[in-house]
Amino acid sequence: MTTQTAAPRILSGMQPSNDSLSIGNYIGALTQWVALQDTCDTFYMMADLHALTVNPDPSALRERTRRTLAQYLAGGVDPSRSTLFVQSHVPQHAELAWILSCQTGFGEAGRMTQFKDKSAKQGNEGTSVGLFTYPVLMAADILLYDAALVPVGEDQRQHLELTRNLAERMNSRFGEDTFVVPDGHIVKAIAKIYDLQNPTAKMSKSENGKGTIWLLDEPKKAAKKIKSAVTDAGTEIVFDPANKPGISNLLNIYSVLADKSITALEAEYAGKQYGNLKVDLSEVVADFLTEFQAKVNVYLDDPAQLDVILADGANKAKAVAQETLKRIYDKVGLLPPASQA
Ligand code: AMP
Ligand code: TRP
Repeated sequence: MTTQTAAPRILSGMQPSNDSLSIGNYIGALTQWVALQDTCDTFYMMADLHALTVNPDPSALRERTRRTLAQYLAGGVDPSRSTLFVQSHVPQHAELAWILSCQTGFGEAGRMTQFKDKSAKQGNEGTSVGLFTYPVLMAADILLYDAALVPVGEDQRQHLELTRNLAERMNSRFGEDTFVVPDGHIVKAIAKIYDLQNPTAKMSKSENGKGTIWLLDEPKKAAKKIKSAVTDAGTEIVFDPANKPGISNLLNIYSVLADKSITALEAEYAGKQYGNLKVDLSEVVADFLTEFQAKVNVYLDDPAQLDVILADGANKAKAVAQETLKRIYDKVGLLPPASQA
């Protein structure tokens, strides 16, 4: 690809659909984003256009967009190494999404399981066209930056596959130099953190109960959620997701937050009770959240600094996005305005 630089380009994002990110977002995605900054050219965004699909309150959305940025920063995303921006500040996302939507089959979009699940819950009339084309906008996010890798959790695998299919389809029609075909970066062990009350379902940002730990949860409250997590039959503390989904999920969370391997944890807890594990993990989680929230508050207390980061990020992102969109407009046959020709 013509615009590839030496360091692989990375693009990812999260929806600012809540005041707080979940610990699933942190473990499944944010830790990967941070690790990739060392070796890659990383672009991370707040996917506010995607968040519109749930029709949020306007002032809440604005506030959540800032809070999401503060949480990226507190999690270790470094604005001197990563380009941090708001999706709607770069109009090319919506523009490329239109081009891609004209290349996406109606049936193909209809097969996306997230869409099927959400629309089944909401019914036809309660389901917006935006929810249907959501994965096409996500493809635009990725393809605009010629991203080689996309770090996400397991739940985004199918959307990435659609992105790859669209890139390949357009490459075969308009030339191999149209799009970079991106790969997913899904780290198996941590790609899916499960609901504490229902450890066979994903820990979700749309659940409000005791099953989700929020990064901005009061630490004591989060500790309680860990202590009341559903565990499995038996007594042994071993990593066995098929037979012991509850304990395996707790071990995964523990492993990432305490930076200990699962094997080391199994050895540490050999012969101990589920209760011991939960008490210790509840402390690990509470300590982690206390430290994390202190950092978030420092960022939230300095809105001017957040604005500088976002302005700088939008400029850098736009510079790349403009070039790509120009290339694609030309490929598909749109007549350039005379002043640009
Ligand atoms: P979302 O909250 O849907 O905007 O997701 C933002 C990122 O977090 C995506 O990369 C998701 O795949 C990832 N993610 C969300 N929930 C989880 C979870 N329970 N476990 C692991 N990764 C998750
Ligand atoms: N759809 C993603 C999610 O819900 C968020 C997202 C939007 C995204 N655009 C993206 C993730 C581009 C990776 C790349 O998790």
